[in-house]
Amino acid sequence: MIHITVDQKEIACEEGSALLDVCLENGIYIPNLCHVAAMETPPASCRMCMVAVEGGGGPVTACATRVIDGMVVRTDTDEVRQLQRTALKLLLSVHDIDCRNCSANKQCELQNIARFLKVGLKAAPYATLLKEQEIDRAHSFLDYLPNRCVLCGKCIHVCAEKNGRPYFTFARRGFDTVISAFGMDGLEADCEACLACVEICPVGALVVRSGRDKK
Ligand code: SF4
Ligand code: SF4
Ligand code: FES
Repeated sequence: MIHITVDQKEIACEEGSALLDVCLENGIYIPNLCHVAAMETPPASCRMCMVAVEGGGGPVTACATRVIDGMVVRTDTDEVRQLQRTALKLLLSVHDIDCRNCSANKQCELQNIARFLKVGLKAAPYATLLKEQEIDRAHSFLDYLPNRCVLCGKCIHVCAEKNGRPYFTFARRGFDTVISAFGMDGLEADCEACLACVEICPVGALVVRSGRDKK
């Protein structure tokens, strides 16, 4: 066991644990979208979990930071909050914000983070840019909505954990990046319809085609 200090609270934890896991387990919330607990190599792609580590230069992602003895962390500085708000706004600038018609309404991590950061669910001051394709039906029974996906990769991760080989993969690049089942027909027989991907999706980007709600 080692000891770290987060927002002036002393915490005992296992050396080498992800700082984000330690904070969440100890009731200190840090916004996060792409992190799965105890992940060996976190993608650190959403940039939501920024924190300040004393003596460590600029803010770092808590999911990709391992705790060491004596570490002193602040999760709530003005700079950290500004970075988190900017990260959220950038995500919202490529998001079809239509909560009333979304399967994740009231269970959505974007809504939770916006509430926590005390900002509206709006892209402003950034302009909104949406992908042309509204729904991808390449999967046999799941609909994928590119303009609601935050590209966290959790669906791919959980499917690989359960089935050894994920049914979905990242496709294309840059703004056009999506999650896709296209061209993965050979795996169709392997999909056990466990719906782990739908369950872990932090937003409403994966839905069962029948119209059934994800939760
Ligand atoms: S994913 Fe969340 S923020 Fe986006 S439309 Fe659905 S409920 Fe609203
Ligand atoms: S579909 Fe959901 S879980 Fe998969 S990458 Fe998009 S937001 Fe994440
Ligand atoms: S949770 Fe750390 S970058 Fe996404």
